[in-house]
Amino acid sequence: MGKIKVTDREGEQHELDVATGMSLMEPLRDLDSGGIEALCGGMCSCATCHVFVEEEWFAKLDERQDDELELLEGTECYDENRSRLACQIIMSDELDGITLTIAPEE
Ligand code: FES
Repeated sequence: MGKIKVTDREGEQHELDVATGMSLMEPLRDLDSGGIEALCGGMCSCATCHVFVEEEWFAKLDERQDDELELLEGTECYDENRSRLACQIIMSDELDGITLTIAPEE
């Protein structure tokens, strides 16, 4: 279990518990408002779970796979240094405290 620090689409800040081994998509989808849609359910095919990860944390993540990168590059607000799909980030002890902002809706 670890914590993630999230700024949602309404600018609200949240600290959420995420179980180790779970993707960051679920807790972001479960926010009451300002969260993500996660339309494909985490299959890496919709990009509605787009988040901006703070750069110090971004460096700790595994590299983006080709399919993730392709989806992200197709979004209007893609940021090479911060963009990730939340469904492709798996919680681990090392990511306890990871800080991110949910990307604007497209
Ligand atoms: S939930 Fe669809 S790409 Fe992440």
